[in-house]
Amino acid sequence: MIKIDTDRLPRHIAIIMDGNGRWAEKHTMGRIRGHRKGAQAVRTVVRACREIGIRYLTLFAFSSENWERPAKEVQALMFLLEEYLDKELAELQKQEIRLTTIGDIERLTPVVREKLFQVKESTATNDKMVLNLALSYGAQDEMIMAIKKIIEDCGSGKMEIKAINKETFSQYLYTSGMPDPDLMIRTSGECRISNFLLWQLAYTELYFTKVLWPDFTKDDLYKAIASYQKRERRFGLTSEQLKEVNTEMCKGKVNA
Ligand code: FPP
Repeated sequence: MIKIDTDRLPRHIAIIMDGNGRWAEKHTMGRIRGHRKGAQAVRTVVRACREIGIRYLTLFAFSSENWERPAKEVQALMFLLEEYLDKELAELQKQEIRLTTIGDIERLTPVVREKLFQVKESTATNDKMVLNLALSYGAQDEMIMAIKKIIEDCGSGKMEIKAINKETFSQYLYTSGMPDPDLMIRTSGECRISNFLLWQLAYTELYFTKVLWPDFTKDDLYKAIASYQKRERRFGLTSEQLKEVNTEMCKGKVNA
């Protein structure tokens, strides 16, 4: 088992779960079987994150571009999501995990929307971990939505142009109130961001693995976390400056 330091865990992990189709092809199965196996990997990873104490886990489950896939595949993905919500509610409650979503969920079918609403409602006070599903999500659309709302609020006097800054802009995004991801994992060997959390990933450590999502295990998660823990996050500062900030923090002079 890979060793990780549980005192220096990423607070927020975001994952692009890629490679379900290729996994199915490799096993001479239809793509939908790949997604079904992918849903099992979701269960494994949610459990593992909760077990080690990750506070936020964001999973890219369905992008705004995925609507263009064959209708049969879209239907199957929606069905898998419904099934996941039905089967996992008890587990989410037991593990005190709160479910949230980001994305244009108005586009989802009324049945899925209703199920999401129920699971979100019933897990709303759970506070051990947030499982955040990106559904019908696209980062460019998210930013356009935020800009439109800011313009609206400036027009109605709710917001002043001079008050627009990185913090206030963040509050208009779907992820408002959540810390930005510390670690972003993408499976299947693709090294792209694919319209995922473009604003929020500004200083995130990126980890790409060749493992296909349906094969992704707790061990693979540990490998990603171990790699994250070896890196020095500088947030635009020099190593020397960073050492000073850390020393000041230890002396209690600077807020973390
Ligand atoms: C990418 O693989 C994966 C998706 C588009 C969907 C992700 C969905 C799941 C993991 C299952 C359902 C989710 C939940 C939360 C229950 P791909 O189809 O693009 O793979 P490929 O690039 O190999 O074709």
